[in-house]
Amino acid sequence: MDTFIKNFADFVGQTVTIKGWAHNVRSSGSIAFLQIRDGSGFTQAVVAKNGVDEASWNAAVEATIESSVIVTGTVSKHPKQEGVFELQATAVQLVQKAEEFPIGKKEHGPDFLLDNRHLWLRSPQQWAIQKVRDQVIHATYDWMRDHGFSKIDSPIFTPNACEGTTELFEIDYFGERKAYLSQSGQLYLEAAIGSVGRCFDFGPVFRAEKSKTRRHLIEFWMMDAEAAFVEHEDNLKIQESLVCYIVEQVLKNCQPELKILERNQEALRKVQAPFIRMTHAEAIKELREMGSDIGDMDDLGADDETKLTMKYEKPIFVEKYPAAVKAFYMKRDPADPTRVLNADLLAPEGYGEVIGGSQREDNYDELLKRVREHNLPEEAFKWYLDLRKYGSVPHSGFGYGLERIVTWICGIHHVRETIPFPRLLNRLEP
Ligand code: 4AD
Ligand code: MG
Repeated sequence: MDTFIKNFADFVGQTVTIKGWAHNVRSSGSIAFLQIRDGSGFTQAVVAKNGVDEASWNAAVEATIESSVIVTGTVSKHPKQEGVFELQATAVQLVQKAEEFPIGKKEHGPDFLLDNRHLWLRSPQQWAIQKVRDQVIHATYDWMRDHGFSKIDSPIFTPNACEGTTELFEIDYFGERKAYLSQSGQLYLEAAIGSVGRCFDFGPVFRAEKSKTRRHLIEFWMMDAEAAFVEHEDNLKIQESLVCYIVEQVLKNCQPELKILERNQEALRKVQAPFIRMTHAEAIKELREMGSDIGDMDDLGADDETKLTMKYEKPIFVEKYPAAVKAFYMKRDPADPTRVLNADLLAPEGYGEVIGGSQREDNYDELLKRVREHNLPEEAFKWYLDLRKYGSVPHSGFGYGLERIVTWICGIHHVRETIPFPRLLNRLEP
C-alpha cells in the first residue's frame, strides 16, 4: 500500500511503499541504511542483502545522497526511540541516481545556501520551516472563516500608495501611465467591507525598501484583515485571538518540525491572552529607563523593539503612536489628536513587530485633509474617499507579515529562511 512516512504509526507490521529521496546513505558488507524523506517526514529504511533480490540490493548500495527512490517494506517500531518508526525493506527501486549533491554536511555560508536555495529547501530545517509556514497559513484561514471573515483578493497592480510613497515599486503600464506594486491590500478591503462586512486577503506585497536587516524582505506575504463596526479595542481582541490560535495550532500539529528546529516550546506556550498592552508614551518611558535616547514622538526602531520584547514573555501591543510617524488613514485618538488609534503587535524574545493595525478615519473631510497633508495624489484616492460618502461606518483592521510570524514561531534569526524564494535587496535568484 502507498502511504506517507508521517502515517507510519498506523501501519506497524504492515507492508507499505514510500516514494521519496535518500537523504543520507550508508552501507556495510551485507546491510544498507537509507535515510528517506518523502515530504511528509523522515524515516530509515533498513536493507539487508539477504532480505531483498539482487536488483534491490544493487539499487540500495548505488543510491547516492538525494537520489530518488521507491522503497517497499514492513513498518517497525524503532528498537530504542519511542514514536520513531523504520522500514524493513523488501524492495528498493532507484528512480534517478543523483549527481554529487552540492550541499554537504560541512558548514556553508548564507550566500552559498541562498544561491542553492532550490536545493537547500530540502534540508530538514528548511523543510520544518516551510511546514510551519503552511500550518500558520491554514490556521489563519480557519480562524478567519470561523469568525465571519470572507476572503477577498486585492489587486497587486495599483494606481496609488497604501503605506507611503517612499517604498513603492513603480511599473511602466503599457507606456501610458505608471502603476505600482501593492504594499498592502488594506484600502481595497476597506471597500469590500461595504459588501461582505468582514474580510481578509492573503498574498504577496512589495516594499522597495533599501533595508538589509534580518526583518526585511522586498517581496513578502501579508494577511490584511478589515471589519466594519469594529473599533480600536475590538480590533486588538481579534488580533490577540487569532495569534493565540495560530500558535496553539503549530504547537498541536507541528511537533516534529519544532523538534527539528530545537524551538523552545515553553516560550510559545506563554502566548496566551491577554497580551501585554502599553501606550507608545509608556513604551518610550520604559525604553528611556533601559538607557535608550529615543525622543517622545519618535517611532520605535528595530533596536527599541528588541529591547522591549526581551523584557516580556508575551506579545506586546504598543498603541497610540504619534500621528506624524504613521500612515494617513489612521483615525486620530479623540482624547489626544496628536496620536492615532493604532497598535503594533510586537512578538516576544526580541522579534519585534509582526502586526500593524489601526482604526481607520471614517469621516470624509478629515480623510481628505490627511490625503492633502501627506501630499498624496487626490485623484488616485478619489475612490477611497468615496467610501466615506456612502454609508461610512467606524471600522478597523490590521495586517500581519507572514514571514515575521513564522520567523518568531520557528525561533530562527532571519526572515529570509521563511519564504521559499526570498527577494532581498541584493538577491533575485534563484
Ligand atoms: O505595518 P505595515 O506596513 O502595515 C500595513 O501595511 C497595513 N496596511 C496593514 C493593515 O492595516 N491592513 O505592514 C504590516 C506587517 C508588519 O507588521 C510586518 O509584520 C510586515 O507586514 N512587514 C514586513 N515583513 C517583511 N519585510 C518587510 N519589508 C515588511 N514590512 C512590513
Ligand atoms: Mg508597521
